[in-house]
Amino acid sequence: MPLTLHALNSSERAAFTTSLRHIFEHSPWVADETWVRRPFRDVAHLHAELCRTMQSASPEKQLALICAHPDLAGRLARQKQLTRESTHEQASAGLNQLSDAELAAFQKLNEAYQAKFGHPFIICARLNAKEAILAAMNSRLQHSPDAEHAAALGEIEKIARLRLNDSLAKQ
Ligand code: GUN
Repeated sequence: MPLTLHALNSSERAAFTTSLRHIFEHSPWVADETWVRRPFRDVAHLHAELCRTMQSASPEKQLALICAHPDLAGRLARQKQLTRESTHEQASAGLNQLSDAELAAFQKLNEAYQAKFGHPFIICARLNAKEAILAAMNSRLQHSPDAEHAAALGEIEKIARLRLNDSLAKQ
């Protein structure tokens, strides 16, 4: 059955969390902690409150959320071990059809980024093609750790909005 805002607004906490567990990668705590702020007027309101939970969490919890994301064109993708949502997101950017040279470029930049910041590079893959992602990886490697922590959370907000749009039936 498609998820509706009405059903979410009248859900028990556990059911609410289960329904929205895929919106933030491997991080159901975001939905769980947002349940107390029901009811939500519309999808935009629900998204804003989920993001408020994420933005007001401790830096450690935020880092765990960032680290729950798979590398783009990384090992999990090659081994076909991504979540359904991540598989779709990476394919939409063309990351499932890379040449050997492009794959090597992603591997090198993923490693350099992880070595500098201690977390994976996050960009909303559905809003960027592979060329734009590689360019962003190169330029964001010059940023400070604080700027990249904030950039990652901003991209996770965009990922969550697209996932919510997909999941919630038009009311
Ligand atoms: N890692 C970096 N970008 C993304 C994205 O858009 N989706 C997922 N699932 N993981 C990512």
